[in-house]
Amino acid sequence: MIDLLEKYPKVVEDEVVFWYKAAPASAFPENGGACVKYKDLQIAVFNFSRKGEWYACQNLCPHRMQMILSRGMIGSSGEEPKVACPFHKKTFSLKTGENLNGDTCAITTYPVKIEDGYVYVGFDSGYS
Ligand code: FES
Repeated sequence: MIDLLEKYPKVVEDEVVFWYKAAPASAFPENGGACVKYKDLQIAVFNFSRKGEWYACQNLCPHRMQMILSRGMIGSSGEEPKVACPFHKKTFSLKTGENLNGDTCAITTYPVKIEDGYVYVGFDSGYS
């Protein structure tokens, strides 16, 4: 189980060395998420269209090791964008990955950019 989590080391945003061209932005539902694969990783990408923002995080919920977060409900706690796991409602910050309502470990979040209608997810040298 721990091995699975170790596949998602923290990404240092200032040290992104590779932008993965994930999919056309139009492939992601408004105010919702979808899962993309990069190598053997599952990455949840969220189109937070209500705020005009995009986020990405590991699809793996660390609570019961379920690949599910892309199907979670997104929202905000004040200024903090968050996703709630559909299984047991553990909630994670989409900025920091911190678990906002319990003691489950944090998730990894990824930088996202949109260019020419495509979604790109950033990885640092820890993923090469
Ligand atoms: S599996 Fe995600 S909250 Fe339990």
